[in-house]
Amino acid sequence: MNRSHLTPEIQLHLITPNCELWTADNAKSPFKDPFWSFYWPGGQSLSRFILDNPSFVANKTVLDVGCGSGACGIAAALSNANIVVSNDIDEVACIASKLNAELNKISLKTESLNFVGHKILWDCILVGDMFYNNELASSLLKWLQQLHISGKTVLIGDAGRLSKMDIYGKENLKLLAIYELPENVKRENEELSSAQVWSM
Ligand SMILES: C[S@@+](CC[C@H](N)C(=O)[O-])C[C@H]1O[C@@H](n2cnc3c(N)ncnc32)[C@H](O)[C@@H]1O
Repeated sequence: MNRSHLTPEIQLHLITPNCELWTADNAKSPFKDPFWSFYWPGGQSLSRFILDNPSFVANKTVLDVGCGSGACGIAAALSNANIVVSNDIDEVACIASKLNAELNKISLKTESLNFVGHKILWDCILVGDMFYNNELASSLLKWLQQLHISGKTVLIGDAGRLSKMDIYGKENLKLLAIYELPENVKRENEELSSAQVWSM
């Protein structure tokens, strides 16, 4: 269990530098690309923002897209969101999110469909640290813009990758908050020192 991050009130099962798997070579890992086993800096900033500003999610239905460990959805559930669905195309991430939800004594649903580009019913969409490759980033931002135009609340947590990308529409994002990352998180994520929260 780990609390060395921007939201120590949320406990998470993670792979940390104290775990053997942190330094094991990929062949020894039972999982391919276990993104769910890290709490990404963009997700940390978004969860911190939600816990500090619960009105963005309170009484709303919330979809945490690319949930990984499930932390952002857990932050929303702790902030009185109505229903939280944690969504990741990696089914193991959905299981990890359920386990982490239990650890924090909240309940959430999970869904492993790819919703990007599709119409959805949730009121509020959370996106933690999903701008990590150009192809995904542009389809994601285009979709989020459509959701915003249709009246949804869109919140994005990112640690600087988004602002460096050459993608249409990023200039319309509104900066809501900047958080300095804890020292251990800086060390584990070379070159990153802070993480931002954006809306539309
Ligand atoms: C860098 S991780 C971020 C995890 C978490 N939000 C956080 O900040 O700690 C990105 C996650 O997005 C998921 N993902 C990638 N494309 C996706 C898609 N189209 N729909 C849902 N999840 C997706 C990956 O499987 C991965 O778990």
